[in-house]
Amino acid sequence: MSTNPVWDGERLCYGGDWNPEQWPAEVWREDVTLMRRAGVNLVTVGVFAWSRLEPTPGRHTADWLDRVLDLLHDNGIRAALATPTAAPPPWFTLAHPDALPVTADGVRLHHGSRDTYCAAAPAYRAAARDIAGFLADRYAHHPALALWHVHNEYGTSCHCPHADAAFRRWLADRYGDFDALNAAWVTSFWSQHYSDWAQLATPRATQYLSNPGQLLDFRRFWSDTLLAAYTEQRDLLRAANPAVPVTTNYVLGDWVPVDHARWASEVDLVAIDHYPSAVDGGAEEQTALAADLARGWARHGAYRRGAGDDSWLLMESAPNQIHTAGRMHTKEPGRLARHSLGHVARGSRGVMFFQWRAPAGGAERFHSAVVPHAGPDSRVFREAAQLGDLLGRITEATAGRVAAAVALGWDAASAWALRHPGMPSRAPDHHAEVAAAHRALWRAGVACDLVPPGDPLDGHRLLVLPALYLAADATVDWVRRHVDAGGHLLVTWLSGVADEHARIRLGGYPGAFRDLLGVRVEEFHPLADGDRVALTGGGYGELWTETVHLAGAEPVAGYRGGVLDGRPAITRHRRGDALAWYVSTRPDDGTYQRLLAGAARDAGVAPVCPAVPPGVEAVRRHDGDRSWLFLLNHTDRPQRVPATGTELVTGEQVDEALTVPAGGVAVLREPPR
Ligand code: GAL
Repeated sequence: MSTNPVWDGERLCYGGDWNPEQWPAEVWREDVTLMRRAGVNLVTVGVFAWSRLEPTPGRHTADWLDRVLDLLHDNGIRAALATPTAAPPPWFTLAHPDALPVTADGVRLHHGSRDTYCAAAPAYRAAARDIAGFLADRYAHHPALALWHVHNEYGTSCHCPHADAAFRRWLADRYGDFDALNAAWVTSFWSQHYSDWAQLATPRATQYLSNPGQLLDFRRFWSDTLLAAYTEQRDLLRAANPAVPVTTNYVLGDWVPVDHARWASEVDLVAIDHYPSAVDGGAEEQTALAADLARGWARHGAYRRGAGDDSWLLMESAPNQIHTAGRMHTKEPGRLARHSLGHVARGSRGVMFFQWRAPAGGAERFHSAVVPHAGPDSRVFREAAQLGDLLGRITEATAGRVAAAVALGWDAASAWALRHPGMPSRAPDHHAEVAAAHRALWRAGVACDLVPPGDPLDGHRLLVLPALYLAADATVDWVRRHVDAGGHLLVTWLSGVADEHARIRLGGYPGAFRDLLGVRVEEFHPLADGDRVALTGGGYGELWTETVHLAGAEPVAGYRGGVLDGRPAITRHRRGDALAWYVSTRPDDGTYQRLLAGAARDAGVAPVCPAVPPGVEAVRRHDGDRSWLFLLNHTDRPQRVPATGTELVTGEQVDEALTVPAGGVAVLREPPR
């Protein structure tokens, strides 16, 4: 029986999206030869191939896919076979115009791109099930099949009549009656009291600000609707062969109406796509954050299912470019491997690219590819082949798990609620605040786990909650239990302000956490873009400030100058052996790094590898008394790191210190403890 590269962990998965439907068969053969040369063992196929699989309704033409899968199998390469439901063919538009998506402004979108469907439209769901069922029947036992890849990046929403009807059903299910719904949405404000289900609709473009509760529920509704679209495909794929795992690739960003944590127990393997948007060191920080998020979701899924571990898969990444501010930035030599290892170090079971071969046309003709327009005689192909070789040498390290003693809260609902335009300023952004806290910890070299509220905090000595705007009562209990058990806590501005319906908790901010933190916030003072306020003890506050009253806490730093001169900015409340910090502003990066490093130290948490020079990232994976140290040198000079063990890429024995080449990587098997 052949092994499953996704499941068995005997090898790291390596490959990417392959689109043979765009090419003649001689190119397929060249591709497979090149894949073998690059060490590729897994490719995603068929992801947008619906019109090639079903050119007219109900008539299937899959001979080409038979040959593609056979070719892969003959060459020892496995397939992540996708259902093509993210790109309905043009015939679908004409047959089912009611299933096309409608924007909040009432504009019905047309085909000519991808994602032209409403996932609440019955005709779309039926067509999606049919094509997925066809693939299940034909390929569920194909020896090349390693993984089902359902759809692509679920993330669309819609305001058509089907969406309205589905939203009403969802609301009826959630609230049961109008009293509960009216109370949750505070509809007494601006005469929005509902008394008939027919009055309820998806939040359209409105004259002025729309209802925050309605907007929040609209996101939740879409997350559940898209999840249902996924699970119905999953179930029929699974029924055809329960041995083949099923997943879908998550797209990141708080515009996405998908609660990825909630989905994690429904996929057999969390898979993410990651494309950093910063070209400087920010790309590496974003890589680390995305990978920690994916591991957090995988951990959450394993916890909810009561089975599995925290490993996941990087399903898409760009081999050669970073898209930023309207242009493409070519990745410098070495960056491909560092980004890839940034993911593998944090639990990815492999590295997959979008895409294998650059297309000759189509909307993404200039997107980076392993085989670029210039062909395989190219730097990107050579670097990709080197990476394939490198991944083959470090597989043993994936036996280990990242062990972090700091937990960082992440919550889709808080992110959605903070996007409402009626906030006191444009600054609040849950994702940006989580990213800022993560960056501070990353720069301090302290490992952290991203945790959705409610997840077990085992071994986490410090819990950091950045802009956790919504706090349900269960979340408040979860935080309290952590502190009562001696855990340290650090909460930042705009946390705990509202309940799960986005209704404000009265009596002073941060409503839900006031007594734990020993503070009462009377007023917000958001700052103008680019403004900052000096803090006593050094550094600045940016974006946001608050009038903080002490109610048991002691001041750690105060505001200096401005309307809050002399008032507390950062406080600390002693709770038994633990400390509960409150941070009422966004400290500048350096100050935040010192603050979080200090809070971690107070909680007894040390950096992963205190001796690494600045610019070198260290991630350790443990398995019992064995451990592996990943070192990523993000600087343009060789860096010496005190260490001992065996370096897996070169095979070098390291007795005292290891030199990591400029822009390079090293993976060290450390001596058993
Ligand atoms: C992903 C998507 C791919 C491709 C890629 C380009 O989000 O899944 O199909 O569009 O972006 O960066």
